Amino acid sequence: MTIDYTWWKDASIYQIWPASYKDSNGDGIGDIPGIISELDYIKDLGVDIIWLSPMYKSPMEDMGYDISDYEDINPDFGTLQDMQDLIDGCHTRGLKIICDLVVNHTSSEHEWFKESRSSLDNPKRDWYIWKKPKYDAEGNRQPPNNWMSYFSGSAWEYDETTGEYYLRLFAKGQPDLNWENETCRKAIYDSALKFWLDRGVDGFRIDVAGLYSKDQSFADAPIVFKDSIYQPSGHLTANGPRIHEFHQEMNKEVVSKYDVMTVGEICHCSKEETLKYVGATRNELNMLFIFDVVEVGCDESDRFRYNGWKLTDFKKAIQSQSEFTKGTDAWSTVFIENHDQPRSVTRFGNDKKYHNKSGKLLAMLETSLTGTLFIYQGQEIGMTNVPRSWSIEEYKDINTVNYYNDFKAKYGNDPDFKEKEEKLLDVINLMARDNARSPVQWSAAKYSGFSTAEPWMRVNDNYTEINVESQLKDPNSLLKFYQKMLKIRKQYKDLFIYGGLNILDYDNEQLFTYTKELPNSKSPKAYVVLNMSNESTKFTPLIDGDFKLIVSNVNNDELDEAVLTPYEGRIYLVN
Ligand code: NOJ
Repeated sequence: MTIDYTWWKDASIYQIWPASYKDSNGDGIGDIPGIISELDYIKDLGVDIIWLSPMYKSPMEDMGYDISDYEDINPDFGTLQDMQDLIDGCHTRGLKIICDLVVNHTSSEHEWFKESRSSLDNPKRDWYIWKKPKYDAEGNRQPPNNWMSYFSGSAWEYDETTGEYYLRLFAKGQPDLNWENETCRKAIYDSALKFWLDRGVDGFRIDVAGLYSKDQSFADAPIVFKDSIYQPSGHLTANGPRIHEFHQEMNKEVVSKYDVMTVGEICHCSKEETLKYVGATRNELNMLFIFDVVEVGCDESDRFRYNGWKLTDFKKAIQSQSEFTKGTDAWSTVFIENHDQPRSVTRFGNDKKYHNKSGKLLAMLETSLTGTLFIYQGQEIGMTNVPRSWSIEEYKDINTVNYYNDFKAKYGNDPDFKEKEEKLLDVINLMARDNARSPVQWSAAKYSGFSTAEPWMRVNDNYTEINVESQLKDPNSLLKFYQKMLKIRKQYKDLFIYGGLNILDYDNEQLFTYTKELPNSKSPKAYVVLNMSNESTKFTPLIDGDFKLIVSNVNNDELDEAVLTPYEGRIYLVN
C-alpha cells in the first residue's frame, strides 16, 4: 500500500487557549507575549503545529468566539505586532501555527452587525438572519420558531431598533451571519481568512463548520426535550442544503491558494455526510473533529444530561472516530481534550490514586491512534478538573452560567431544590468547559506561575503537586512521557498515524486491546493493551506472534509479564 504522507497528517498539534496560557504583563489574563515566552517549551514537547484559539478583538461574551474585528487583536492579549512576532517565532523554530476561524457568527459589536441592525434597508441588513416576530393566541410577541440556543433559552433575540428578531445559535452577542448572501461571504473571505493567510498563518481550525447553511424554511424543530419550550435545531441548522457548496467555494477562492491546512468542527453528522467534508478530491476541508469520544455518556445536544459510560461505549466511540475513513481517501483527527471539554485524566482515568499512571495510559492511547493528533494545553502534565468543593461562582463559562441560572429559574422553588442542585453541580463539575479553562499550572509559585496577579479564573487547588516545573525535573513524569510518546508516534508513524485500527476485545469492560497495522503489509504490527480500570487482571495475548515490548507506563522492575496492574498499558511490536 502506498501511503500519502502529508505534513498536516504527520503533525502533532498543540492547542493554546490564550486567556489561560501565560500572563506576561501581570494583569491576570494570559497573552501573546506569554505564549512567545514558552515557544521553546512547546518545541521541546515534540509538537509541530500550534492551534491558537481566538485572539481577535472581542467583548469576550464567549471568550473570544464572539469576534468584533477579524483584523485586530484583543488588547488584553496584545497587539498585531505581537501576533506577527508569534507567527515568526513559530516559523523560526520550525513550528507552524493555525488560527481559529469563527465565521458562523460575529460579535454583535462587529461593525457589520451594527450596520445590519441599524435599519431595515441598510445594505448589510441581509448579512445576518432577521425574521419578524410571531404572536401567540393572547397576542404576546414570540420568537419566529422554537430553536434552542446552545447556551440555553431561545436562539432568537429581539431587537427594538427594527422590531425584528435575529438568529444567534450561541450567545445573545453572537448573531449568525447569513451565508446565503454572496457579498457577505466575500467579505468573510477577505477579512477573516486572507488577512491572516497573508500574514503567514498556516491554516485554520474552523469553528462550527457545519452550521453555515440553515434550512431556509426556518420551521420549528421536533420536540426532543419534553421539559423545555425550546428544542435543539440540529437537523435544520447542521449540515444544511448548501454547506458543501460553501466549503468548496471557500476552498477554491481562498484556502487552495496557500499551502495550509484546515480542520473543521462538525457535529451531528452521519458517516456518509462526514466523508463529504473531508474526501480528498472534494476540496472542502482536510480533516474534522468528531465528537463520539468526548461525548460518550452525554446527550449530544446537552452535555449536562449525563448518564455515565462503560468501556464498551468508549471503544465504540474510538472505533467510529478512527475508522470512518477506512477504505476512503479521507483523513481524520485524534483528540480527547480541548477548550470545550473536561480534563481527560479526570473523565477517563483516575485523577487521584493513579494520576501519573492513568495519564500515561491515555497518552499511549492517543499517540497510537490513526489521524492527526491534537493535544490541549495542560494535558501534557495531566491537569485535572477543578475541585468539586468549588462553588458555582468560580465557574465563568457562559454555557455553564446560563445553564445553572435557567435551572434555578425553573426549579428554584421546588421543595427538593437542594437535592436537585447538588446533582446538577456533580455533573457540572464533571462536564463543564470551565474545567479546561483554569490557568496553566507552570510551577508551585503563587498563582501557579501563570501570573503575578490574581488570575481572571481561579487556579486549580492542586497546582503545587501538578505543574510543569516539577515535571520537567522528574524523569518519571507525565510530561516526560508525553515527550517520549510523541517521538515514538513519529518513529512508528506507518503504524500509529497511518495504520488501521483493529479492536480485539469489544466486549471486555476492563481491558482495551487493539492492533495497528497497514493493510496487506508484511511488516510487524503494533499491539496495544490498556487496563482502563482500578483492578489488576491477567494478561493473555489475543493474537499469535513474537511480542517485543516497545513501551509501557510502569518501570521495568515493576513489570510482571502475566499481569496488568490498574491503568497499566503496554505497546508491543508483533512479528
Ligand atoms: C465552538 C467553540 O469551540 C466554542 O468554544 C464556542 O463557544 C462555540 N463554537 C461558538 O463559537
